[in-house]
Amino acid sequence: MTTIRDVAAKAQVSVSTVSHVINGTRFVENETRARVQAAIAELGYRPNSLARSLRRRVTGTIGLLVPDNANPFFADMARLIEDVGFDEGYSVILCNSDGSDKKESAYIDVLRSKQVDGLLIISSSNHPEFLRSAVGVEVPVVVVDRALEEWPVDQVMVDNELGGYQAGHYLAGLGHRRIVCIAGPSSATPSAGRSAGFKRALSEFGIRLSESAILPGDFQYSGGESAMRILLEQMPDLTAVFATNDLMAIGAMNVLQRAGRRIPDDVSVIGFDNVPQSAAMFPALTTIAQPTEQLARTSISLLLKRINGSGDPAARILLPTHLIERESCKYI
Ligand code: RIB
Repeated sequence: MTTIRDVAAKAQVSVSTVSHVINGTRFVENETRARVQAAIAELGYRPNSLARSLRRRVTGTIGLLVPDNANPFFADMARLIEDVGFDEGYSVILCNSDGSDKKESAYIDVLRSKQVDGLLIISSSNHPEFLRSAVGVEVPVVVVDRALEEWPVDQVMVDNELGGYQAGHYLAGLGHRRIVCIAGPSSATPSAGRSAGFKRALSEFGIRLSESAILPGDFQYSGGESAMRILLEQMPDLTAVFATNDLMAIGAMNVLQRAGRRIPDDVSVIGFDNVPQSAAMFPALTTIAQPTEQLARTSISLLLKRINGSGDPAARILLPTHLIERESCKYI
């Protein structure tokens, strides 16, 4: 029977490299990965999943790394992941990186030292280099919400371009033309997709968003406030705002209302995420909903499959967003 050593010899790599390619537990250069996969195919190698699964479950714990656990989107994700993990017999250790690469890397070392069986990572930056070296070779990883493009590990996120398009199509469809956008931070991978989709929708209505009409925010309430103040100063006659997450949309609403603008009579506001607070606003915030529960369930079930020895190729799952129409937007 062909063994992992036969594959390693044929591909001229180490046994652990073959293991990483099979389990997606660490980055392997494309050329090396292709050599290993060719050797597996030629030799007809079938990993011994029972041996792998026996090796995998060590502590019954899963690490979850989020950029900001005070943000209701991440708080909701953490609660859902903990629920599902607990039902599957796992304890979930939540770590908050506060958007710091250094803290993120330190927490990964802590989680590895605690021998977690798997890691769910919502990275606060799109520079995976520092993460790649930190992530343990023996720990399955699933990247959630914020894609890390070149990582050949399972990744689960929403279709951010679709979400931005839905927001732009909605506002332009209401007749708005004096439109501004509070974008996400460039360090967060979802930001670019949301802005691109938003611009694509507006262009279908013949609207070109000027560079001064789109300001980067920080996905925080205060970031929404400060961006809205600048945009209102630059374009006092604006009639619609797309904020690329609900916290910034709520901050923007506060600035508009304090400036005497009625929502939605004077200015329409749409957010992104559908955090619980968005429905509690007055007027209730129209937003692009993320399928948060599906995101959580899909990512943890992928991780449990890896922990139990799945050797499937790395998955890339993109979940759709949808518009939730409430009270904060109207026809112009
Ligand atoms: O509100 C936080 C934002 O960052 C969300 O839109 C989520 O997608 C995360 O990436």
